[in-house]
Amino acid sequence: MPTKIPLFAFLLFLTAVEANAQSELLQSKNCFSCHAMESHVIGPAYKDVASKYRGDKEAKSKLALKIMQGGSGVWGQIAMPANPQVSADEAKSLAAFILLQK
Ligand code: HEC
Repeated sequence: MPTKIPLFAFLLFLTAVEANAQSELLQSKNCFSCHAMESHVIGPAYKDVASKYRGDKEAKSKLALKIMQGGSGVWGQIAMPANPQVSADEAKSLAAFILLQK
């Protein structure tokens, strides 16, 4: 079915646009001052966060809450400060995006 090819390409395009928007959100909310996708900075690499919680159905809501409220003791003694500039919806969307990293 030749008509399936453009639809597939379009969905890929949408996925790319969506991922880019979330990456820009991480940027604009200052998350990259302590985090990177692939490597530990002050906080854990998002890739490592994703592999730690792979298969954990509660992870998205747990992490969304932690993004907003901050906390310590999971990755070490350094605490993540609260991020009051992040709304509940943004926190959920960022948590979901972080959990998709490989
Ligand atoms: C001032 C530095 C700093 C900033 C800014 C920061 N983080 Fe963190 N983040 C940390 C540290 C340190 C940890 C490890 C906390 C721990 O061990 O429990 C962490 C942990 C995390 C975790 C894993 C939490 C867990 O319990 O496993 C996620 C997800 C996360 N941060 C997302 C974000 C997002 C999204 C932002 C931007 C809105 C952000 N962080 C901004 C320092 C920061």
